[in-house]
Amino acid sequence: MILRPLRDTADDLADVQRITTAAFAAPGVPPEPPPAPARQARLDALHRHFVRHDPDGSLIAYDASGALGAVVASRRESVWGLSLLVVAPEAQGKGVGRALLDRALAYGEGCARGIISGSLDPRAARAYWAAGFALHPAIRLEGALDPARLPTPGGPLSEGGDPDFLDAVDRQVRGGAHGPDHAELLRDCRLLTVDAADGRGYCFIDMSLPDKVELMGLCATTDAVAARLLTAALRDVPAGRNVKISNVTAEQRWAVDIALTAGLQPEPGGYLCLRGMRPPVGFVPTGKYL
Ligand SMILES: CC(C)(COP(=O)(O)OP(=O)(O)OC[C@H]1O[C@@H](n2cnc3c(N)ncnc32)[C@H](O)[C@@H]1OP(=O)(O)O)[C@@H](O)C(=O)NCCC(=O)NCCS
Repeated sequence: MILRPLRDTADDLADVQRITTAAFAAPGVPPEPPPAPARQARLDALHRHFVRHDPDGSLIAYDASGALGAVVASRRESVWGLSLLVVAPEAQGKGVGRALLDRALAYGEGCARGIISGSLDPRAARAYWAAGFALHPAIRLEGALDPARLPTPGGPLSEGGDPDFLDAVDRQVRGGAHGPDHAELLRDCRLLTVDAADGRGYCFIDMSLPDKVELMGLCATTDAVAARLLTAALRDVPAGRNVKISNVTAEQRWAVDIALTAGLQPEPGGYLCLRGMRPPVGFVPTGKYL
């Protein structure tokens, strides 16, 4: 087996896409249809972003039979993050995932903190635990939204925000700035910010895809500001649209209260795996940019 850096090519993109779809498919269930063009474009952009910014953390494993698995990890200041770890079903359980994860972890050497949005796969949970990550059970909140059930958010709130402000909030809440990730998120998401006496924070919400509205990261220094941001973001989503909020740990009670009030359903959502940090109170990371 050989590991080599992922490339920004149609072949590598197709391999990662194929392995990801197959790896996450439930056994015995037919594979999902290929993503719609708008979602595929989003996945392509994500792939390109990490290949460009994290060439040493983005790897593909292959042998004579073809591509076996892939990993994508990022380094942003002193925070290491794992965005993708997948192994094709026929190659699972043979050490491929371990080899990919070891290389991705080596890329994060020297980083004080680490974040992974871990799936429910016990092999993944075991591997992250063995690498020193604490497993924080997470829930996913999803369903048709009824925004009229939410109160008017009290307190100051702005549309948009300066990248330096976003980075400063990141440093305070998660110990390192997202840097180039924010520009990537801004292309497709709405950004709300709060810079007020009761705290500061931001959230990205993606309403641009037809099938789903998704919270794409929320960082706030207090739970009051976090709640204000999420309430405001959801109140502007058209009634009945399917909304998804992932990686919500027990610390984010404010998020559970808001989401359940607005009609979303809680479901098991894997583990938020953290190293060198406890879950901050105003923090709902995305699975990819974390
Ligand atoms: C999770 C995944 C990446 C692991 O890759 P893999 O090549 O199958 O796993 P490996 O063979 O390298 O084994 C990884 C660990 O799981 C353990 N493991 C392997 N098969 C196992 C099984 N059937 N049950 C429990 N643990 C198992 C291994 O012992 C190893 O732990 P160890 O190093 O402490 O011994 C892969 O199975 C996968 O793609 N799963 C579906 C997608 C997914 O959930 N990805 C993770 C996203 S966070």
